[in-house]
Amino acid sequence: MHFSRKWAALCSVLALGPALVPATTLYMSPSGSDSNTGASATNALKTLKGVLGKVTAAKPADAVDIVVAEGTFVGQSVVWTYFNGKPIKFAPPAGAKTKPIFDGEGTGLAWFTMGDSADAAVPTNLHFIGLNVTNYWLGLDLGRNKAPGNSQNESSNNTITGNRFHGVKNSNPADSDGDGKNEDLTGYIHAIYAAHNSRGNVIANNEFKQVTGDVVRTRDGSHDNLIEGNRFTTAGKYSAYSDWIADTGNECPSHGNRFKDNTVGDGYFGPFKAGYVTHVYGPDDRCSNGGTLPARIIETGTVIQ
Ligand SMILES: *[C@@H]1O[C@H](CO)[C@@H](O)[C@H](O)[C@H]1NC(C)=O
Ligand SMILES: *[C@@H]1O[C@H](CO)[C@@H](O)[C@H](O)[C@H]1NC(C)=O
Ligand SMILES: *[C@@H]1O[C@H](CO)[C@@H](O)[C@H](O)[C@H]1NC(C)=O
Repeated sequence: MHFSRKWAALCSVLALGPALVPATTLYMSPSGSDSNTGASATNALKTLKGVLGKVTAAKPADAVDIVVAEGTFVGQSVVWTYFNGKPIKFAPPAGAKTKPIFDGEGTGLAWFTMGDSADAAVPTNLHFIGLNVTNYWLGLDLGRNKAPGNSQNESSNNTITGNRFHGVKNSNPADSDGDGKNEDLTGYIHAIYAAHNSRGNVIANNEFKQVTGDVVRTRDGSHDNLIEGNRFTTAGKYSAYSDWIADTGNECPSHGNRFKDNTVGDGYFGPFKAGYVTHVYGPDDRCSNGGTLPARIIETGTVIQ
């Protein structure tokens, strides 16, 4: 009697276990359809926009797992605007043999742009795991559209691990400022752009190939990001990773970003200048209020290949 009551109590604890970490699961597949429910692999959605539409309508308060089927998703692009502070994860199913491919087909698309979180206290908490992003103009944009310098919005605590970004580029000069002359735009293209208070992001164990601009770029108060264990091949214009602010203006330099144990080959246009695997632009001390801040970039363990 005593034994079985204990046993029953143990069983109910075990049964409760999974319920303590509730998650909403949605499925997407190249063979899916955005008119499906997305509730199962056989009823999968097709696009990132379709997934966004579902979560925006359902407003789950718990973690969201987006199970991305193997195969090739063509021409997809999204400005993601749903955040609830819980992890929102894009990853292949357990046991997948290949990385799902997002192919931008070289048509000038940005793959995934993070929109603003409606509440600055809610971390965006996006997780991208094991995806293959290829032929895009821009890869993952964490904060590009925010008003420079005055945004309270943060994109923070996102993780980008084990992905492959290949062919993130724009080689065609164009007249971006309307002065009638074409500019070289290659430097504007990044595989991962973390700007305007994008903090505490982890960019680890990814492979970056054929990226025309600096591969990872932080800007304006984007502190404490970790860039670790990635491999850069034919990627980066001046550097594999740079932090940038203009020489004038009111944007703040980013501090405490760690570039750790990365393997770095030549840049897109050839070998980097000596000392340019990482680089910072603009004044170091703006916004420091006279105090001392950690270095902008702390680079350790780079393996040059
Ligand atoms: C990523 O996709 C490209 C394009 O289909 C393919 O050539 C490459 O092998 C893939 N790489 C990985 C690591 O999945
Ligand atoms: C990000 O994570 C760190 C460590 O877990 C935590 O201290 C910080 O508050 C988080 N940031 C936000 C905006 O939630
Ligand atoms: C976030 O940014 C948007 C657009 O810039 C702005 O309308 C909104 O007020 C901001 N939210 C917070 C909490 O600052």
